Amino acid sequence: MTKELTTLSPLAEDVFEGLKAKGKHLPSKYFYDSKGDELFQQIMHLDEYYLTRKELEIFQTHKQAILEAINGSEPFRIIELGAGDGLKTKVLLKHFMEAGVDFTYTPVDISGNVLEILEGNLKAEIPGLKIETYEGDYFDALAEIAESPEKDIVFFLGSNVGNFDKEEAVGFLTKLQQFLKKGDLLFMGVDLKKDPAIILNAYNDKQGITREFNLNLLDRINVELGGNFDRNQFLHYPYYNPHTGECRSYLISKIEQTVTIMEEEIHFNAWEAIFMEISKKYDRRQLQKLADASGFTPQEVFLDSDSWFADLIWKKEK
Ligand code: AVI
Repeated sequence: MTKELTTLSPLAEDVFEGLKAKGKHLPSKYFYDSKGDELFQQIMHLDEYYLTRKELEIFQTHKQAILEAINGSEPFRIIELGAGDGLKTKVLLKHFMEAGVDFTYTPVDISGNVLEILEGNLKAEIPGLKIETYEGDYFDALAEIAESPEKDIVFFLGSNVGNFDKEEAVGFLTKLQQFLKKGDLLFMGVDLKKDPAIILNAYNDKQGITREFNLNLLDRINVELGGNFDRNQFLHYPYYNPHTGECRSYLISKIEQTVTIMEEEIHFNAWEAIFMEISKKYDRRQLQKLADASGFTPQEVFLDSDSWFADLIWKKEK
């Protein structure tokens, strides 16, 4: 039976669409299987990967100012999209509790397992925290929970928005804005333009963990879709464009080769590239444009001591 007549999994559909395209590409959202989650945890602890450290510094330094900007005198709810291990968010949650403000924390994640661990940890570490987890897709969560009368603050941290290209970012944030009520806020972590060498090193670490993180998607395709990628025949090539602020990662075929996935042949010319991931860095002008295009009004910017990373507060005003 041809692939068109069978029902393909979303992974299979996206892999075939991406690898049959003229410019081959694979979606970076599939990096995160259990091995990928583990590798990303390691990345966040790398010296070169400054993003996590810088955002943590912002929270530690500005937690009171962040609370004031959120307007902590009325009850509110924090909806965190892609909560992960909550390491950084915990700093703010603890501070908000100590300040005696009335809020609920709703982490949203597609992994029930991640949420269970997070809930256990937070309950143990922050007694009295009101936590209501939501397992599922971001927009399903917003459709279901953002309707309530209380003020919502959506947390979208860690430069996750950087994994969208320009159009995707506008599309995502516009949709997000449409789910919010007038007066609701977005609290978003973005990575900023800086010395290109610093940015490139963050995606080209000496230990090769980021290379593994990319190659792991080829392994995943082999295991889950019966592929026969030989990871040794691909090299990892990240590239930063200081004009656009886009760091793009590629896997490049070192030889002419044919890879078979679910009995389908995918041909690679020597030095043909698969575009794997975009990690976009912003400047102030681009951020203002993004806010305008997606219907948000910028309210506050919190920076680390080097101005490498920013956490922004944007409001839905109308
Ligand atoms: C999750 N995301 C914001 C990370 C980033 O910086 O683009 C993923 C990552 N890719 C390579 N290293 C980290």
